[in-house]
Amino acid sequence: MNFSATKTILVTGGLGYIGSHTVVMLLEQGFSVVIVDNLSNSQAFIEERIREVADGTLQVYIEDVTNEKALEAIFQKHDIAGVLHFAAHKAVGESMQKPLEYYHNNISGLISLLACMKKYEVDNIIFSSSCTVYGEAEQLPINEQAPFQEAASVYGRTKQIAEHILHDFANACSKKIVSLRYFNPVGAHPSARLGELPGGIPDNLVPYITQTAAGVREYLFVFGNDYPTRDGTAIRDYIYIMDLADAHVLALQRLLSLNFEDFQSPEIYNLGTGRGYTVLEVISAFEKASGTELPYKFAPKREGDVTAAYADNKKAKEELGWQANTSLEYALSTAWKWEQAYRSEQSGS
Ligand code: WQD
Repeated sequence: MNFSATKTILVTGGLGYIGSHTVVMLLEQGFSVVIVDNLSNSQAFIEERIREVADGTLQVYIEDVTNEKALEAIFQKHDIAGVLHFAAHKAVGESMQKPLEYYHNNISGLISLLACMKKYEVDNIIFSSSCTVYGEAEQLPINEQAPFQEAASVYGRTKQIAEHILHDFANACSKKIVSLRYFNPVGAHPSARLGELPGGIPDNLVPYITQTAAGVREYLFVFGNDYPTRDGTAIRDYIYIMDLADAHVLALQRLLSLNFEDFQSPEIYNLGTGRGYTVLEVISAFEKASGTELPYKFAPKREGDVTAAYADNKKAKEELGWQANTSLEYALSTAWKWEQAYRSEQSGS
C-alpha cells in the first residue's frame, strides 16, 4: 500500500549525513518533505544536491530545533503526517568535551519538537537513536532487549534520556513512536553527489580514513591496539548509509499503516549488518576498495569508546522486511568516490 502519495514528512537535520540520504529515499517514494536544519553539522549546498538526485516536493527551513517558535510556524504551515528526527550532535569523542551543548541540543531540541507534535496533533515520529545507548553490552550481538548499561559517553547518555522521554510521551499522548538504534553508518550515495561532510577534523573513522587517503590528513590514528579483540583494535558494525535510509522509509510506512492500538510504542529496532569489523579490518577493506595504501599510527584509546558493538538485526528484518546486505568494501568504495569528487570540486579541478 502506497502511503506516500499525499503525505508530508518533516525531517529535522535533513541536510545532514543520514538525513539527506533518507530525504532522497522519501522523495523517491513520493513523500513530500519539509526539512528543518540549522547547518551546525551540514552545508546549505546539500539542498541542491538532494534536488539533483531525487525529484519531488521539498521545502527547506534553516532553523534550530531548540527554537520552538520557529518549529511552531512550520507545523502551522504544513499538514505534517510524520516526523523523522535526526537533528542532534553525534560525535562520541566530542560529547565528552562539550556536555552542555550535547544536552541542550539533543534533549531540549527533542522536547521542543514533541511539544509541537502534541499541539498540532502529529501522531508519528521516527527517532534517530544509537547503539551507544547499550554502553559496553554484556552480550554480543546486541538485541533490542539488551539493557541500557552505564553510557560510555555523554552522547550515549543523551540518547538514553531521549528514549525515556519518548516512552513517557507515547504513553501520555497516544503517539506512535519508532526508535531506530543505528550502529555505524558509513558510505555515500552511489552518485557521489551526497556523502558524509564532517566540519573540521572528522570524529568518525571512515571520513578520517578517506581524508587521509586524499592527503588531507597525514595519518589515521588508530585509537587503541590492546583491546581484548582478535587484533587488539575495537570492533563496530558498519552499515551502508543507503541501507540505513531504506530502514527509515520501511519504518515510516509501517507507522502510517498501523493504528495506535496495534502499535506498541515506542517500537525499537537495531539497525546494523549483524557483523563486526575491527579498525584494522576496516583499513584493509578500504585499501582493497580504493587500491591505495593507508598510512596509520596507533594512538591511545579514546575516552567514551567501547570495545565491541554489533547488532542482532533479526527484529528489523522480520518486522520491517529490511535487508542490510551491502558489503563493507562497497560502502567504503562509495565513501572514497565521494571524497575524491568533493576534493576535486573544492580544488576547482
Ligand atoms: C569507530 C571506531 C574508534 C576515529 C559512531 C557515531 C555514533 C553512533 C555509533 C549513530 C572506534 C575508531 C575512530 C579515528 C579510530 N552512531 N577510530 N580513529 O565511536 O563507534 O560512534 O557510531 O548514532 O553517532 O559517532 O564511531 O567512527 O568515531 O569510531 O581509531 O580517527 O573507530 O575508536 O573504535 P563510534 P567512530
